[in-house]
Amino acid sequence: MKPTKPIEQTAAPGATSPFDELNKWAQTAAAEKNGQLGFPGNQDIKLKDFYRWYVANGLIQVCLNNAGDPFCDNPGKLTSHRFEREVIEYFAPLYGFETDNVWGLVTNSGSDGNNHGIYFGNNFLKNKTGKDPVLYVSDEAHYSNMRLAHLQGIDTRLIKSDDMGRMIPEELDKSLIPDRPCIIVFAMGSTFKGAIDDQNALNAVLDRYPSMKVFRHVDAALFGGYLPFTRHKDIVDRRIMRFDSIAVSGHKFFGMDEPAGLFITSRDVYERQRQFNVAYLNEDMKMINCSRSSVDALKFWWLIRSISKEEWAEQANQMLENTGYLVDELRKFNYPCWVNELSNTVFIKRPPQEIVERYSLSCNYDERFGGPLAHIVVMQHVTRERIDKFVEALKLSCK
Ligand SMILES: Cc1ncc(COP(=O)(O)O)c(C=O)c1O
Repeated sequence: MKPTKPIEQTAAPGATSPFDELNKWAQTAAAEKNGQLGFPGNQDIKLKDFYRWYVANGLIQVCLNNAGDPFCDNPGKLTSHRFEREVIEYFAPLYGFETDNVWGLVTNSGSDGNNHGIYFGNNFLKNKTGKDPVLYVSDEAHYSNMRLAHLQGIDTRLIKSDDMGRMIPEELDKSLIPDRPCIIVFAMGSTFKGAIDDQNALNAVLDRYPSMKVFRHVDAALFGGYLPFTRHKDIVDRRIMRFDSIAVSGHKFFGMDEPAGLFITSRDVYERQRQFNVAYLNEDMKMINCSRSSVDALKFWWLIRSISKEEWAEQANQMLENTGYLVDELRKFNYPCWVNELSNTVFIKRPPQEIVERYSLSCNYDERFGGPLAHIVVMQHVTRERIDKFVEALKLSCK
C-alpha cells in the first residue's frame, strides 16, 4: 500500500503513521477500550514499561521464536524459554501442581491450551489402555472444546447442562460408556453464563466406574485467572479436584495485551505422549505447535514479576465485588439479570440495540430466560463508575 501522507509528529513521537486509515483505527481502538463491557479482556494493561524496555534494548529488531520444549535444553539462543519455564513454575502451585512434577507452556490462547489438554488426554489414555477414549463436555462449554475434539477425531458426547449452564451429573451418568476411557472437560466459567461445572458431583459419577480410566481437563480460560487468588481457590486445585491438565487465557484476567495463555499438566501425562523426534529442536517434541511467541512468554514473566500475588488478589476480589454491585443496581430497577456463583459474568435481558452496540455486549438466546439475552463481563476496567454510567444508560433506554 502506498503512503498517503508524510509522517506527522503530532501527539507522541511516532504516533502518526503514513496510513490514514491506520491512524483513525488506532485512535478509535484506544478511545473505546474502556467502554467495552461484553468481552472478558482486562483492559487495565500494565505493559508500558515492558515495551519501553523491549524497544530500548533493540529487541524490536530481533526475530525471536520459542519453537521447542521450554523444559528441555534447546540449541537455539533466540528463545525466551527460560522465562517461559519460570512462568509455568510460578503458576503450577496455584493450580495444585508440584514444581517437580509439572510440565507446561505459554500458549497462543485459551483454545490452544484446550487443544493441548484434549490431545494430551487422548494420547495419555490410549497409551495406558490401548483403547480410543470418549470425550464428554457440556453443551454450554466453550465451542473450542467441541471443535478440537472433532478436529482430533475423538468420539464426543455433548452433555446437557442445567438452566444456569452447569453440566448435569445424571446426564453424564446416562451418557457414559464405561468400557472405554473417558476424557472429561470441566467448564470453569462457561462462556456466556459463567457456569462452573460441579467437579465434586461429576467426580462422584465417574467414581462409580472404578475400572474406567479418566483424564480430566479444566477449561478455565477466564475464571482460572482470578479464582486462585480468592478464598475459593480449592476449586482450581488439582490436589482437591483431581484434574490432570488446565488451560487458562493470558489476555483475560492477567492483562496480556494480545492472545496468550497457559497450559499446565503433570510429568506423568507428558511422559505418556507420542514421540516425534525432531532433531533440530529438542529431539522429542511432545507439543502441537512448532513456532511460538517468545514475546508472550516475556510479557507474562514481566507481569508476574511486577504484580504481586496480593495485588492479583485485590483485583480478583474487587472484580467479584463489582459484579455484586452491578447485580444490585440492576435489581433495584427490576431489570432481569442472572449470575452464577463465583462468576464475574452477569447475563441480562437483551437491552435495545443502541446499548448493545455502545457497550459491545455479546448476545445470546435462551427460551428459559425469556429469549434474547446479553452479558456483561466485569473485568478490572469495569469500575463502579462505569457500572453506574451503564446502568443509567440502560434505564434511559427502557423509558
Ligand atoms: C470458557 C472459555 N474457554 C475457552 C475460550 C477460548 O479462549 P481464547 O479466546 O483465549 O482462545 C473462551 C473464550 O472466551 C472461554 O470463555
